[in-house]
Amino acid sequence: MNNFIFYSPTEFAFGKDTEELTGKLVKKYKGTKVLVHFGGGSVKKSGLLNKAEDSLKAEKIDYILLGGAKPNPINALVYEGITLCREEKIDFILAVGGGSAIDSAKAIAAGVLYHGDFWDFFERKAEIKEALPVGAVLTIPAAGSEGSSNTVITQELSKRKLGTGAPALRPVFSILNPIYTYSLPPFQTACGIADMMAHILERYFTQTTGVEISDRLCEGILLTIINQGPIVFKEPENYNARSNIMWAGTVAHNGTCGVGRVEDWASHGLEHELSALYDVAHGAGLAVIFPAWMKYVYQENVSLFAQYANRVWGVEVSEDKEAMALKGIDATKEFFASIGLPTNFIQLGAKKSDIDKLISNLAVNCGGSIGSFKKLSMEDAKAIYEIACQ
Ligand code: NZQ
Ligand code: ZN
Repeated sequence: MNNFIFYSPTEFAFGKDTEELTGKLVKKYKGTKVLVHFGGGSVKKSGLLNKAEDSLKAEKIDYILLGGAKPNPINALVYEGITLCREEKIDFILAVGGGSAIDSAKAIAAGVLYHGDFWDFFERKAEIKEALPVGAVLTIPAAGSEGSSNTVITQELSKRKLGTGAPALRPVFSILNPIYTYSLPPFQTACGIADMMAHILERYFTQTTGVEISDRLCEGILLTIINQGPIVFKEPENYNARSNIMWAGTVAHNGTCGVGRVEDWASHGLEHELSALYDVAHGAGLAVIFPAWMKYVYQENVSLFAQYANRVWGVEVSEDKEAMALKGIDATKEFFASIGLPTNFIQLGAKKSDIDKLISNLAVNCGGSIGSFKKLSMEDAKAIYEIACQ
């Protein structure tokens, strides 16, 4: 196991009626004038935005609203948010929604205190040293942004989707009431499930040895998702199933599963090019990319893939570890298909003829190589996109 520092200071309020704590938590973290940032309207429809506003009013906290964060959030709204925060002397940003609203809020929070162009952070021209405090009221278990120190934004004109991270971006609090996930369309629920599974798998597939504790944590969370996931499709208002899935999404990505091991993240890099070019849902792109990546790299550590197949998918232990590994990969792909996700380029709406374009964009964005379980050249990346066409 490698050395690590684990610092994950977000305060979580989980369960029924926890949105009523919004005002108190903003006050606790010294917010006096709040930008409430949300997406395209689901939070108005569900009444959650009203509840959050009522809670702020009850604490006599002044606020303004900024909606419009779209899935795969874009830079234009971040600039608008930064200007608004400066004009209105905002000292706290509250995101009400999913990963897109939270990521957009984080980018605004960092941008407000920076004198250059906030996009510098994403192009690695500047480091995020400070940000306004961000709080989140989550509506979709998926991106894990409610407990992560990352944000992912798309520069609309260039179609570059880039991520950045810093401790200052980790939300000071996050509120998770599973009841507000009942209204999720099945496709969004499925995309969220694929994303959280991918966050675990990006950490699970490592060449670091002696990490049974995080192996087992990863496997336990994956098993929970695989057991509880199908229940939420049959019974969208099953509180316990929604609760398990919601917390799984958070622990998949708050760092716990990756400590002491080298993480990979090639599949996310490959997927971000798909979201950037076609504006597809991130989780749907991952359902296509992850099994393709697995097929391409499993020979780098067949034993780990065989372990995954056995412990997560119940594949019987045999002498033929390669056969076990392949069964585990097939099971992963079948699971994604079973919850209604695309598993190849055509189903996703991507084109084989765009692969060269995807690769040239990826080369610019990742500097020529990606991943660590197997360090991938752009030739390797191309081969993975080709497998994803099948
Ligand atoms: O915009 P609204 O109207 O709210 O509708 C959203 C949106 O259309 C809808 N939705 C959310 N909660 C709902 C709901 N509809 C009904 N009822 C509810 N309770 O679902 C759609 C997707 O929402 P979005 O916020 O885009 O989803 P998600 O949480 O999956 O976020 C995706 C973004 O997160 C980034 C992705 O790349 C993508 O841009 N990621 C962020 C990460 C991070 N910050 O650590 C890590 C991830 O790997 C990921 O890259
Ligand atoms: Zn993701």
